[in-house]
Amino acid sequence: MRHSRNTSRPTRVDATQSHAHASNLGRSVMKIGIIGAGNIGGNLTRRLTALGHEVSVANSRGPHTLTALAEETGATPVPVEEAARGAEVVVVTIPLKAVPDLPKGVLDGAADGVAVIDTGNYYPQQRDGRIAEIEDEGLTESRWTERRLGHPVIKAFNGTYAQDILDRHRPAGAPDRQALPVAGDDAAAKAKVRALIDELGFDTVDAGGLDDSWRQQPATPVYGLQAGAEAVTKALAEASPERTPEFRG
Ligand SMILES: NC(=O)c1ccc[n+]([C@@H]2O[C@H](COP(=O)([O-])OP(=O)(O)OC[C@H]3O[C@@H](n4cnc5c(N)ncnc54)[C@H](OP(=O)(O)O)[C@@H]3O)[C@@H](O)[C@H]2O)c1
Repeated sequence: MRHSRNTSRPTRVDATQSHAHASNLGRSVMKIGIIGAGNIGGNLTRRLTALGHEVSVANSRGPHTLTALAEETGATPVPVEEAARGAEVVVVTIPLKAVPDLPKGVLDGAADGVAVIDTGNYYPQQRDGRIAEIEDEGLTESRWTERRLGHPVIKAFNGTYAQDILDRHRPAGAPDRQALPVAGDDAAAKAKVRALIDELGFDTVDAGGLDDSWRQQPATPVYGLQAGAEAVTKALAEASPERTPEFRG
């Protein structure tokens, strides 16, 4: 998995123009909270604001450290406690080991029926340390995160290169449109997330419930796969539940 930071600096997005753009295209403008402003959180902020959504974004160091991203995108930098306030979609995109550090009740102020996207991966050797419930009890990585958050999650983007969010979006029906696997137990939330990913310019493949989401964890065939729906479906089917040595702590 590449971990490249985006260096391109698109011009600042005018939020009013973007909203008009979204409604002209018949899409509804959503309030979206993004917790984590790194490779993935930063690029989702860029694209979601460009589509006209109202994005609040938070990191661990506070909103004063997010002024450049806010300037560039029109997103609102907020303390992490406020990121989910009123949001219909919340993206949790921080290192797995940091999930237990999030403030208790961080999702409490979200809109009813909020869809919470978890982009996380478990990197025991490089970053996260050993997590016994994942390794010994066989919890999927997202089930572990869901339990820490106390709210159902939808697993998406975990195997997507951050740069692809900016570079590889395509209109629906484009022959080279990439597909992303999406797993989760809440059908309505999963449908909302799949519709948003379609708006972001990617197809999706329903990868089942959260207990099936090992099929898209690191070291599986679909992880990092840049391909369409047919190949993604095949890769999900070919996954093995065994953790590989590199992904054991
Ligand atoms: N990079 C990729 O291409 C990629 C692709 C797919 C999935 N993922 C997964 O997605 C997750 C995020 O990856 P990333 O590469 O975007 O991470 P990253 O670049 O390291 O950024 C992490 C972000 O999380 C924030 N953060 C850390 N602890 C926090 C806390 N307690 N409260 C609020 N914010 C906190 C950091 O804020 P500060 O900087 O202020 O500490 C930073 O903005 C990881 O689980 C990763 O494995 C990454």
